Amino acid sequence: MDQNQPTKIAQAKAVLEKNWQGGFTIPCEGLYPFQWNWDSGFIAIGWAHIDMERAKQEIRSLLMGQWKNGFIPHILFHNESDTYFPGPDVHASHLSPHAVSLPTSGITQPPVLGFVLEACYNISEDQELGFVSEVFDSVYNNHHYFYTNRDPKGEGLVYICHNWEAGTDNTPVWDEIWKNLDSPEYELNRRDTQHVDASNRPSNREYQHYIHLIELFKEWKYNDALIAEQCPFLIQDPLFNTMLIKSNESLINLGNLLGKKKQVEQLEKWQMLAKESFNQKLFNEELGTYVYYDLRNERHLNYVSSSSFAPLFAGIPTLEMAKKMVDWYFEKGTFSGNKDELLLCASFDPKSSHFDPKRYWRGPVWINLNWIIYRGLLRYGMEELAETIKKDTLHVLEKFGFYEYFDPRKEVLKTLEKGYGGNNFSWSAALYIDILKNTTI
Ligand code: GLC
Repeated sequence: MDQNQPTKIAQAKAVLEKNWQGGFTIPCEGLYPFQWNWDSGFIAIGWAHIDMERAKQEIRSLLMGQWKNGFIPHILFHNESDTYFPGPDVHASHLSPHAVSLPTSGITQPPVLGFVLEACYNISEDQELGFVSEVFDSVYNNHHYFYTNRDPKGEGLVYICHNWEAGTDNTPVWDEIWKNLDSPEYELNRRDTQHVDASNRPSNREYQHYIHLIELFKEWKYNDALIAEQCPFLIQDPLFNTMLIKSNESLINLGNLLGKKKQVEQLEKWQMLAKESFNQKLFNEELGTYVYYDLRNERHLNYVSSSSFAPLFAGIPTLEMAKKMVDWYFEKGTFSGNKDELLLCASFDPKSSHFDPKRYWRGPVWINLNWIIYRGLLRYGMEELAETIKKDTLHVLEKFGFYEYFDPRKEVLKTLEKGYGGNNFSWSAALYIDILKNTTI
């Protein structure tokens, strides 16, 4: 144990405390001043170790934004702030007949809530089911929303229709979509580049594409059928579907404890189909790992990113597939580089010409992806590599602080004094606390 760990844990708690808004936690002051969907999930796990009531409030606040059809938005505008673009006026959620009165965005984010709920339950000392029982149906309804509205072919794989839905907002994979998109050259009132170094952030042209998609959704009043028919961005993403599958699994476990027979039966059906299709459709035999599928253009997007390894977390590959994948990409260094070169785990293929170790999702290490892959490796009994990821994760957080993302190059890290993006970033702090414990999910 690093002898400074107790101080670091206190600092991590202080980050969460500072970002707590009396009901929910913002991801990062200035840069992300509202409640974000999957951030809140990871943050709730952190709170569960410190103050279970806050974990519950975090989740309750997120569910306040749930639409009547089960959809959970990616941003909830409980509060006002002029430090972020695009705000509630641009998203205009009231255009959807399903929206609730709380202003939100009209796009979603990776559905982590199911497994977050199980993690909180496992962390709780009394293992009391009251809270699980309070929110179970809402989370179930969210899964119902996905399988009935986002799976046009009935494959058990759901699509995302915006890069912000992926969570991995700026991965080079989306360049394939932007290439063919003739988005208007909107005047942008960007705020992110006022908070952090513009060279770490997406370009203006990319932001115009992001806004263009939102404008289309508004024109279609956020109607899912129209989006499925016409949206130029329609992707079956391995990370997003892994989160849903992992959350299915947790809801099945919790549903059994609650005696929710009918819902468990339905979840099991979704789960079986989802896992089977995932392995059939998203596993690229030649690459030996998972890739993306572009439903709009009926083609695979054969890129390897950290999302390619997320399926370990939900037990999707067979042990044999998992061993081969890990051996090739991590033991042989195809993704992880040689031992002195890279810290685990880059967010995009370091051998690709698109790899950029500084820019948002195009290479840097992200703590939530490390946490997902770490838990995935443990699930498959790959303790040694899991320990390396844990060690690398603790290293950057303890050396630099709770930044949003980090440079993976070991040589460069020696000369740096900080991480990249926002500082005092909530999920980096929350997952630091969790990774030091042995939460089982
Ligand atoms: C960035 C990340 C996204 C996250 C958000 C708030 O946009 O790409 O995954 O949810 O920040 O932290």
